Amino acid sequence: MTKKVYVGMSADLIHPGHLNIIKEAQKLGEVIVGLLTDKAIASYKRLPYLDYEQRRIIVENIKGVNQVIPQETLDYIPNLTQIKPDFVVHGDDWKTGVQKEVRARVIDVLKEWGGELVEIGYTQGISSTKLNQHLKEIGTTPAIRMKRFKRLLQSKPIVRLMEAHNGLTGLIVENTQINIDGATKEFDGMWLSSLTDSTAKGKPDIECVDVTSRMNTINDILEVTTKPIIFDGDTGGITEHFVFTVKSLERLGVSAVIIEDKIGLKKNSLFGTDVVQTQDSIENFSHKIASGKKAQVTEDFMIIARVESLILKNGINDAVTRAKAYIAAGADGIMIHSKEKSPAEILEFCSIYKTLENRVPLIIVPSSYNSVYENELIAAGANVVIYANHLLRSAYPAMIETAQSILRHGRSLECDQKVMPIREILTLINGGE
Ligand code: SPV
Ligand code: MG
Repeated sequence: MTKKVYVGMSADLIHPGHLNIIKEAQKLGEVIVGLLTDKAIASYKRLPYLDYEQRRIIVENIKGVNQVIPQETLDYIPNLTQIKPDFVVHGDDWKTGVQKEVRARVIDVLKEWGGELVEIGYTQGISSTKLNQHLKEIGTTPAIRMKRFKRLLQSKPIVRLMEAHNGLTGLIVENTQINIDGATKEFDGMWLSSLTDSTAKGKPDIECVDVTSRMNTINDILEVTTKPIIFDGDTGGITEHFVFTVKSLERLGVSAVIIEDKIGLKKNSLFGTDVVQTQDSIENFSHKIASGKKAQVTEDFMIIARVESLILKNGINDAVTRAKAYIAAGADGIMIHSKEKSPAEILEFCSIYKTLENRVPLIIVPSSYNSVYENELIAAGANVVIYANHLLRSAYPAMIETAQSILRHGRSLECDQKVMPIREILTLINGGE
C-alpha cells in the first residue's frame, strides 16, 4: 500500500528549499501538504503576504503534491491523529525556536502508530527571513495594504495598532519587534490619530488641521511602510464633505476611517465633560455612515462608528442603542471610548455588545484605563486595541529634557548619553550613505 507522507508548510514565499522538501517527501509515498491557515501563521509570526486560497492554489500545482488540506493550528497533532501518516517530512530548522515544542509533540504522537519523522537538511543560501526583508523594501500596493486589515481581523485574536504621525513613527510601528519564547510580536498596523497628527504640527485637536494636510501625513507614512492604516476621521465633517474623504482615503489604500458621533466644534474626547462637546443625533450620524458606505468604491474599505456616549456621560444604554443603530446604518465596526481610569464601564459595554446579533468588530482605546491587559480585552470580545498617542507622548519629554540640558550647561556634552549616536542616525534609514 502507498505510504502517506505529511508535510506541514506556510508556503507564503515558495523557494527551492520547499521544493526540495516535497521532492524528498515524494520518494517516501503520497504527499499530503498540511497548509497552515492565516490564523495558524499569525499565531506565531507575521500574517503571510498571500492569503490561504492563493497559497493553496500554488501548492496544489507543485509537482509531487497529491493533496492539500488546511492545518488550522501551529500544532500538527489534530491533523496527524486524523491522517495517521507513515512519515512526517520537515526541514531540520525547527529544532530550536517557537517550533521546538511542536516538533517534540510530532515525534511523540507518531509513535502511537509507528510513524516516523524525516528531517531534511536546510537548503543553503535561501532564507524566508531574507526574502521577507526584500519584499518589505519593494513595498506594497494600495489594494493589498487596504485588504490586510480585514485579513488581520479574521486571523488574530486581537489586532494591535499603534499611533503614527510621520514617516519616522511609521517606521517604528512597521519595524519594532520583540521575541517571546521564539514567537515574534509586533504591531499590526497604524492609527492616524488626530491628536498626535495635530500636536506634531503644533495645533490643537479641533479639526483645524484640514483633510489635505492629514493626507500629506498619510502619504509620508505610506511611502515608507507596508502595514495597514486606520484613519482617525474626527467627526467626518459634514456629510457632503465626508463622502469625498472616504474616496480619497480609499484611493490611497487606507483600510478604515473611524468617525465619532459628535457635532459642532470637536474637542478631544479625553477632556470628557470638562469642555462643551455635543453628541450628534442618531439619525444624522446614521445618515453620515450610510452616505460614506455608498460613496466607497471597493469592498474592502471600512467605515467604523465611534460611540461617544460614555465620554459624554450619557450612559451604557445610550451607547448600546447607538451601536445598534450605527450597525444598522452600515458601520463595519464600532469603537467605544471612555476616559475613566478604570476599565469597568468599557468591560460592561463589551459584555452587552458581545450578545448583539449583528455585532461587527469592536475597537478599544485604553489610554486612560491603561491597566487593562490585551488578554482581558480579548476575553471581553474586543477585536482591535489602539495605543493612540504613546510614541509622541514618549518623545516629547525626552526632547524637552535635551533642550533644557543644553541651555543649562551651555554645551551639548551632558545630554550625549541620552541621545542616539550620530553614527546611528546616519545609518538608521537605508540609502543615506
Ligand atoms: C486620537 O488619538 O486622536 C483619538 C483618541 O481620537 S482620543 O485622543 O482618546 O480621543
Ligand atoms: Mg482623535
